[in-house]
Amino acid sequence: MLIYKKAGIRGAWIRWFICTLLSLLHGVISETSRALDIMTKYPLIDGHNDLALRLRMHHNNKLSTFNMYNNPKVATDISRLIAGHVGGQVFAAYVLCTAQDKDAVRLTLEQIDVIRRMCTENPEMELVTTAEGMKNSTKIACLISIEGGHSIDSSLAALRMFYQLGVRSMALTHNCNTPWAESSSSYYTYYQQKNNSLTEFGKAVVNEMNRLGMLVDLSHSSWETARAVLKHSTAPVIFTHSAAYAICNNIRNVPDDQLLLLKENGGLIMVNFYSSFVACSNNTNMSVVADHFDHLKRVIGAESIGIGADFDGAIGFPKGLEDVSKYPALIEELISRNWTEEELAGVLRLNFLRVFRKVEKVRDDMLHILPSEAEISLSEVNKSCRTMLVHPGRPERSHQNGNAPLMPVKALICFILLLIQLQ
Ligand SMILES: *[C@@H]1O[C@H](CO)[C@@H](O)[C@H](O)[C@H]1NC(C)=O
Ligand SMILES: *[C@@H]1O[C@H](CO)[C@@H](O)[C@H](O)[C@H]1NC(C)=O
Ligand SMILES: *[C@@H]1O[C@H](CO)[C@@H](O)[C@H](O)[C@H]1NC(C)=O
Ligand SMILES: *[C@@H]1O[C@H](CO)[C@@H](O)[C@H](O)[C@H]1NC(C)=O
Ligand SMILES: *[C@@H]1O[C@H](CO)[C@@H](O)[C@H](O)[C@H]1NC(C)=O
Ligand SMILES: *[C@@H]1O[C@H](CO)[C@@H](O)[C@H](O)[C@H]1NC(C)=O
Ligand SMILES: [Zn+2]
Repeated sequence: MLIYKKAGIRGAWIRWFICTLLSLLHGVISETSRALDIMTKYPLIDGHNDLALRLRMHHNNKLSTFNMYNNPKVATDISRLIAGHVGGQVFAAYVLCTAQDKDAVRLTLEQIDVIRRMCTENPEMELVTTAEGMKNSTKIACLISIEGGHSIDSSLAALRMFYQLGVRSMALTHNCNTPWAESSSSYYTYYQQKNNSLTEFGKAVVNEMNRLGMLVDLSHSSWETARAVLKHSTAPVIFTHSAAYAICNNIRNVPDDQLLLLKENGGLIMVNFYSSFVACSNNTNMSVVADHFDHLKRVIGAESIGIGADFDGAIGFPKGLEDVSKYPALIEELISRNWTEEELAGVLRLNFLRVFRKVEKVRDDMLHILPSEAEISLSEVNKSCRTMLVHPGRPERSHQNGNAPLMPVKALICFILLLIQLQ
């Protein structure tokens, strides 16, 4: 009897323990499965990924030497994109600021080439250039972006040709100023503007992007430049990989007053996961990333938020968000913070599609406007790197060597050398 009673008490305790465990587990499991359910219905479109930079750095863009399916050396590969429920990815064609005024245009073409190859040679991926194409895609839809206005070498014709190659988004600057827009970084002082964060030519670039239907990306731009663009742009703009300055006061993040301008503009901030930007420290977890989402929702509403994690661009991500397979963990965290399915559907995908569609609508409204023939004035650019074109019929003359009169002499020397060689 006594033994039975004892067992009964112990049984009750065990039952209580198991029930508690189960209900805790149930909460966790149900949040996990809800996150996966929501992400299956609304696969993520992420605003910024730098895998193409890794392909350049470690493989010199030779895709044949890169295992695209399973590659622990990078944060992005096909199996983890699928595990992360990624349905769309904006891939950045980024070239170093040190290429400005040198071979930035060629290097950018090569980055576009490698993204196009990656997205057409792998059957799980697909290259898209429209909001509808992105919406329809049942694969990993790739959209190409350029990260840094130095890639167009101050030429609207180059910008238009990049559009022809499928580029649908461009950050006005990376860490360097261009002759026409200012960077948030003061690392490179060249082209530092005194009191003109978006020059007349900068406005022409924004106008032309509006006319083409290219998203204007303000991540990496200085706050002054961002404000000037927010005032000037006819179409909504995006920050493809930035976070909230109120939570972590890094200059790459967006302060509240600018967020309000962004809301007015109808644009989007896609949250960066990089530890230094979300936590202002190297050691953190995903809860601080969720704090950015909560703050942004409070200030401008869930409909103005997206995700642009910056994988393979930055090094050092919060625990639990280390690579492209981990997005569901963040969605789970937001569910536990009472974010609704509707809000999450927007954050994951619908907000980006809405903004992209609006940018296309602005393009359609501007169809009657001809391509801009605006040119940057030579006084604003680094002349030593530009070939000066003169009247037809006369030889070209480079500003750098300015040795046109020596051309016949050179030709003669070459001819003599050739004769010597032939003998
Ligand atoms: C997207 O799907 C719709 C309906 O399924 C179809 O009419 C349209 O042509 C598709 N568009 C693209 C760009 O794939
Ligand atoms: C910068 O220019 C604006 C007008 O474009 C002017 O209102 C402002 O005072 C100038 N600021 C400085 C520091 O020169
Ligand atoms: C993070 O670590 C790197 C070196 O590993 C250091 O240079 C950087 O200053 C650190 N950043 C922060 C915000 O602590
Ligand atoms: C994340 O870090 C915060 C402190 O920044 C801590 O309170 C929280 O328990 C951590 N969460 C996890 C899941 O480690
Ligand atoms: C979520 O909602 C529940 C029920 O309304 C509430 O008890 C809880 O405090 C909320 N949690 C957060 C993080 O807002
Ligand atoms: C122009 O650019 C080149 C290459 O980046 C650089 O070496 C040179 O110093 C620049 N010219 C001037 C006048 O700064
Ligand atoms: Zn970046």
